[in-house]
Formats: sequence, C-alpha cells, structure tokens
Amino acid sequence: MNKLLDVKDLKVDFSSHGKKIYAVSGASFSLYEGETLGIVGESGCGKSATAKAITKLLPPRTSSISGEVLYGDKNLLDYSENQMQRVRGKEIGIIFQDPMTSLNPTLRIGTQIIEGYKRHHPEISKSASIDYAIEMLELVGIPQAASRVFEYPHTLSGGMRQRVMIAIALACRPKILIADEPTTALDVTIQAQILKLMKDIQAKTGTSILLITHDLSVVAGFCDRVIVMYAGKVVETGPVDDIFYRPQHPYTQRLLQSIPKINLSSSEPLASIEGMPPQLTEVSQGCSFAARCPSAMKICLQKSPCKTTISPGHTSSCWLHQREA
Ligand SMILES: Nc1ncnc2c1ncn2[C@@H]1O[C@H](COP(=O)(O)OP(=O)(O)OP(=O)(O)O)[C@@H](O)[C@H]1O
Ligand SMILES: [Mg+2]
Repeated sequence: MNKLLDVKDLKVDFSSHGKKIYAVSGASFSLYEGETLGIVGESGCGKSATAKAITKLLPPRTSSISGEVLYGDKNLLDYSENQMQRVRGKEIGIIFQDPMTSLNPTLRIGTQIIEGYKRHHPEISKSASIDYAIEMLELVGIPQAASRVFEYPHTLSGGMRQRVMIAIALACRPKILIADEPTTALDVTIQAQILKLMKDIQAKTGTSILLITHDLSVVAGFCDRVIVMYAGKVVETGPVDDIFYRPQHPYTQRLLQSIPKINLSSSEPLASIEGMPPQLTEVSQGCSFAARCPSAMKICLQKSPCKTTISPGHTSSCWLHQREA
C-alpha cells in the first residue's frame, strides 16, 4: 500500500499565560491509501493537536509546529495559508467533534455543503450545485434530501447534523478524511450508524480515514491500524489485532484493562490507571508514563525509550523491550 501522509517527528507547543505546553513531542506515523488509522489516548494527550497541526488549523500566534507532514513529496508545514486552503477540503476533509458549533446557523445546509466544492470548481452552475448538494445529502443518508438541502441546521437532529458535517467534509472527494471524535456527542445507536456510514463511503470512494477517539470499542470495530498516544508521544502502533490481543506497552495494556467488562460482577472494582497524566509544561527526560507504570525501572525515569519493532508494523516504545535495561 502507498503512503498518503507521512508525519515525521511532529512537535506542537502552545504558549498559554506565559507558560509553554508541549502538546505533541515528536510524533511519527504514516497513513496509507484506503486504510482507517485510529489515534487513541486519554484526554489531553495531544490527539486533536496532532490533527490540527496536520491541517494547520492551530492558532498561529500562540502555537508553534515543527517536524514534517509529507503529503506526496510536499511538506504541508511549509505551505502558506493560501496553499493550505487548497489542500483543506479538496485533499484533506475534516470533521470535528461538535456538529452543533461546527455548522453555520445562518446558512442553508446546501450552501454549506457546496461552499468548499465551489471554491475548487468556480464554474459550476447554481442548479448543478444544488443537485450536487442533494447527491451528497443522499450519500450520507439524509431523508428528503431535495427539500432538506434548503433548510437551516437548527431544523436537524444531532445525528443528522453530524451526517451533514460528513457531507461537507466529503463534498470535494478528499483523499484523506480526518475525523476528530466524530461521534462523541451522539448516543450509541446514532454513533454506530455514523461509523457504518463512514465505512460505506470509504468502500465506495477509497478515502483514507484518520479517526481520533478515546473510545477503544470504536477503534476495535472500525480501524485497521492504531496509534496509541500518551502525553504527546506515540507509545505503541500496530495492526488493530496486535494492539488488542498482543498489547506491548504498559500504557496500552492498562488502557485495555480499563474497558468495562459486561460480565464484571457488581462487587468487582472497575480497573483504572492509577495517577494522572503528567502536566505537559515540560518535556520529560525519561518515559512519560514511568510515574504511573507498575513495571517502571530506574532507567525509565532517566532516558526516553527507543521504538522497538515487535512484529511487522507493530512497534512499542518501552524500556522493557530493550535488553540493555
Ligand atoms: N489552543 C490551545 N492553547 C493552549 N493549550 C492548548 C490548546 N489546544 C490544546 N492545548 C493543550 O494541549 C494539550 C493537548 O490537547 P489536545 O486538545 O490535543 O488533547 P486531546 O488528546 O485531543 O484530548 P481530548 O480527548 O480531551 O479531546 C492539552 O494539555 C491542552 O490543554
Ligand atoms: Mg481532542
């Protein structure tokens, strides 16, 4: 499979109230053609910052990005805002967490769907653009698309608004779809419908999906490969079965143990990861999970572990895998 996106040593930091926050500290990963790659990790571990850095949607005055985001032979981090506007929508579609605030309440749904497409195809006629918006609404399973296209977002349910968000993101037929917690605000049945819809569309269009979520059950059912992030770093990456059945990093192992089990008796306590993720106000010398890790050794506090290949495509960054430790 061909690499579509190659993220190398991505670093993102924010300046906030005179302090630095190191949100992403050297993340490297690739997205291949036609695959679904999941990014998982606890709240605040840098998932959204990674997605926003790839699309250069971070506040320019308070954030800084370094590393490489290679799309073909071009580094998107070198692109100007004008160049990025041509990439967003057309090459990379983006869906954010909250459909309530991501849609413009003053514009008709059809207008919002067609807005990006028109920017890339200014020659399209008015009637052709309405037809195209209806086609996109049908693609995402909105009933009565021909009349809904003229409605405003407030007339739609949360699930329908999220479908409209997907229609907007897919309108320019992007090669990559970045979905940041696309179903978190929805109830579980609608969540399942939206995920199935994204899979169906992927099967039709071949779009690669980068799915950001903290929900491991979504990852298990939806992704081909997984990246596990902890405190701004990629700690483990691999095919979904390796991550779920043969997790190597103590953080991934704890994360999986903390999924509530359906057959858990009421007297058994729920497993959780002791302690809190570190403040990201400094880059840790050693492994950032060391303070919470039951297997931590002296070296874990002193030096960052290197990436170890466990099996083809499965890597983990932990001193336990290194003989010298
Ligand atoms: N615009 C910003 N200014 C300052 N700090 C920020 C900004 N955006 C994110 N951060 C900080 O960067 C870190 C990573 O945030 P990020 O939003 O990437 O987390 P996340 O993994 O997406 O979490 P969640 O699962 O809660 O969405 C956090 O400490 C957060 O407070
Ligand atoms: Mg987030």
